[in-house]
Amino acid sequence: MAAEEKAGVGRAPSCLCVLCGLPATGKSTLARTVLSAAAQHGWRATVVPYDDLIPEHAFQTRAVEDGVALQDVHTEWKLHRHAVLQCIEQFMKKPEVLAELPSKCQINRAAWEQCIHTLLQPEGLDHSCADRTPLLFLLDDNFYYPSMRYEVYQLARKHSLGFCQVYLHCDLESCISRNQSRSEPISTEVILEMVKRLESPNPQKNPWETKSIFLNTTDNLSKCDIQKVMELISSALSNPLSPVEDNTEQKEAARLKCASSVVHQADQACRRLISEAMKTAREKQVSSEHMRSLATQLNESKATFLHNLRKQLLQETSLTQEEDFDVERVVKRAVDVFDHEKKEILLRIINDFFPQSNI
Ligand SMILES: *[C@@H]1O[C@H](CO)[C@@H](O)[C@H](O)[C@H]1NC(C)=O
Ligand SMILES: *[C@@H]1O[C@H](CO)[C@@H](O)[C@H](O)[C@H]1NC(C)=O
Ligand SMILES: *[C@@H]1O[C@H](CO)[C@@H](O)[C@H](O)[C@H]1NC(C)=O
Ligand SMILES: *[C@@H]1O[C@H](CO)[C@@H](O)[C@H](O)[C@H]1NC(C)=O
Repeated sequence: MAAEEKAGVGRAPSCLCVLCGLPATGKSTLARTVLSAAAQHGWRATVVPYDDLIPEHAFQTRAVEDGVALQDVHTEWKLHRHAVLQCIEQFMKKPEVLAELPSKCQINRAAWEQCIHTLLQPEGLDHSCADRTPLLFLLDDNFYYPSMRYEVYQLARKHSLGFCQVYLHCDLESCISRNQSRSEPISTEVILEMVKRLESPNPQKNPWETKSIFLNTTDNLSKCDIQKVMELISSALSNPLSPVEDNTEQKEAARLKCASSVVHQADQACRRLISEAMKTAREKQVSSEHMRSLATQLNESKATFLHNLRKQLLQETSLTQEEDFDVERVVKRAVDVFDHEKKEILLRIINDFFPQSNI
């Protein structure tokens, strides 16, 4: 196991390249062109064609999910997308073993075998050094939501792979005319539905989408377009992502810990305030019935207060920057609120017991 992991560290540079865009924008054509350019570079490259890998029934629903079973359909499509990524992951770990396909998702085995065939037996490459040559996966699907592309990014990050995206866009007219010459044309509804949903790569908003380019595929692809894509991929291959960057879990744990600490300290402070209030009431010699009522009300108020405090803390984004998070100050500010509430409750009880002091 350890030896394998060591081997993984010295593994050939690898890249996941997402081709995204509406149907009939020329993704598959681009993929084919990039494949032959990759071969010229001496890279092992393959296209991961979602259309062929994912069964029709799960596939059709991806855009038209406004039916009754929206949730189910969405889940099914998502499961299949994950299964495709699992296949890639499995290949990255143990290329010689054919992926154990999740039984729930029928990824088309023949299509997957074909997909990795060229990687295992690259033409014109010396077999002995085949596993040292750069490895490129071109993921061919619409990827219309950033979240769909992010799943690929996460996989790349997990295994220190390069990651890049090519967004293809063309005039609706060219899309439509290309669509008509497809063997399996896509319905207008599906295309229009995707137009509504499509959120193209946005590096300003999503820093993880930095390595993205835009290709206008209204006209035929030019040599310059292909060169741009090859440069993008080269750059991704030589700048793999670092798994260390994935500290979301640690951050989340730190947030929870921080919130718990604040709530704990606030709880202690509230208890002291409650004892003080009880002491004041006792000194005023209010009846035991009023003492009980006071205790109950303060206790309830404290419980609600702490519950809301915790909720608010977990929602607060500033908690993620723990370094500049001043627990003491936050506790004090929060407890001041409870102190105010405590005084009101105490006053109400005392006024109830000594109505004349209300004057
Ligand atoms: C794609 O082509 C098919 C068959 O020619 C047609 O029925 C469909 O409406 C076309 N879709 C678009 C978006 O033009
Ligand atoms: C794409 O290219 C076509 C033809 O060259 C041009 O008419 C169109 O404005 C371009 N679209 C974009 C978004 O650049
Ligand atoms: C694009 O390529 C097709 C097929 O190779 C060709 O028939 C067509 O004339 C080309 N269009 C342009 C604008 O170059
Ligand atoms: C205070 O409330 C908690 C639940 O919030 C309860 O378990 C406890 O018995 C209460 N104590 C008093 C003194 O009312």
